[in-house]
Amino acid sequence: MGSPMTTLTPVLTKNWDQADSFTRTAYERNGGYQPLRKALGMEPSAIVEAVKDSGLRGRGGAGFPTGMKWGFLAQGTGKPTYLVVNADESEPGTCKDIPLMMADPHVLVEGVIISSYAIGAHQAFIYVRGEVLHVIRRLRQAVEEAYEAGYLGRDILGSGFDLDLVVHAGAGAYICGEETALLDSLEGFRGQPRLKPPFPAVAGLYGGPTVVNNVESIASVPSIVDRGADWFASMGTEKSKGFGIFSLSGHVTRPGQYEAPLGITLRELLEMAGGIREGHELKFWTPGGSSTPIFTAEHLDVPLDFESVGAAGSMLGTRALQIFDETTCVVRAVLRWTEFYAHESCGKCTPCREGTYWLKQMMKRLEAGQGTEEDLSTLNDIADNILGRSFCALGDGATSPIHSSIKHFREEYLAHFSHGGCPFDHAKSTKWG
Ligand code: NAI
Ligand code: SF4
Repeated sequence: MGSPMTTLTPVLTKNWDQADSFTRTAYERNGGYQPLRKALGMEPSAIVEAVKDSGLRGRGGAGFPTGMKWGFLAQGTGKPTYLVVNADESEPGTCKDIPLMMADPHVLVEGVIISSYAIGAHQAFIYVRGEVLHVIRRLRQAVEEAYEAGYLGRDILGSGFDLDLVVHAGAGAYICGEETALLDSLEGFRGQPRLKPPFPAVAGLYGGPTVVNNVESIASVPSIVDRGADWFASMGTEKSKGFGIFSLSGHVTRPGQYEAPLGITLRELLEMAGGIREGHELKFWTPGGSSTPIFTAEHLDVPLDFESVGAAGSMLGTRALQIFDETTCVVRAVLRWTEFYAHESCGKCTPCREGTYWLKQMMKRLEAGQGTEEDLSTLNDIADNILGRSFCALGDGATSPIHSSIKHFREEYLAHFSHGGCPFDHAKSTKWG
């Protein structure tokens, strides 16, 4: 996806428009690896404190405080501590980590080294989804360059600190983005979620204390070390501090990645992205990928921070803003997402394995116009029996588009039934009605 490179907080995306931004030479030219030198002169605990004080919350979707997660690491287990970067970005609409790793892989590598030093890990992994071979190659190149410069390996920059970093390719399953399924996959097993607790911080990779953090979270660490926790905390909102990359896709004039403080609104982001495509109007959108309940034009001014989006009935998630205009059939969009969840359900637990299958079957029938209003209650009921009863967040996520689309667009479902099929003319992509 092309990025217009508009940014309000130029930190992670600041070098993306430089042709050689992915090389170590360019990264160093732009001040890269200086934060590492500073970090190696600090006490590891001081780095953990700085990350805590910054208020950085996990950028993979859940928003768990990063420094607090590091602080939960079990001590004295006799097992090695690991850092694992979750680079298995797969949430529909989410496209921030992949461009970040392509344009600036060294900021992630530097973040891994500083974070590993802070938590006392000597072995780190970046787990990347297997389909993105170009990203895997780019990361491996960056890791090789970092070894050559003495940023990785034995006695890093004469500090006495040792770290090895492996870029591991997954095999292309959405569930492997769930942190414990990811760990199983990394260990060579079929990727399926583990029971939590114990959380990975207590017993993770090979049973050792493990921090699993998203790409963007770890890539934010060098800037926090460099510019301080107060600088980071001065951006964003009271409880959602700092900046983040917002991915705008779909019916916008200039789709792409927009780096901005948390708490920005879709209206403001759309101004940067040139608005909804010409001659059209906003119909619905996801604040954080398809696993977050959809919003409508009514929600244009909801601040995009964890608390405000939650209070408005959705979740900030991965800040994957998928934008749909009035030519989109919401029922068809929800059917498409539901097929995705049914396909990606790992099958471990019954509510999700069976429930997503039945959601898909019903959505197919309803989209084809073979339904009654009563079916909407049944659909809601199936979703109610998945939500909160599934083993991991995938099952819950599958219910978000169902519940929220019926809530906001009941009329459109009914129109399918009275019309005996989809009332939209998909060939012409015109508005229904
Ligand atoms: P979660 O809220 O269960 O956990 C978040 C993190 O906090 C985990 O790393 C967990 O280990 C840690 N944690 C929570 N309580 C803890 C405790 N008491 N002690 C130690 N650590 C603790 O959320 P989960 O299931 O990890 O992630 C769900 C989110 O993932 C969703 O909100 C969704 O937005 C996002 N997601 C992102 C995708 C992507 O492609 N980036 C794909 C699918 C979902
Ligand atoms: Fe697997 Fe779905 Fe159950 Fe998660 S909720 S463990 S993906 S079957």
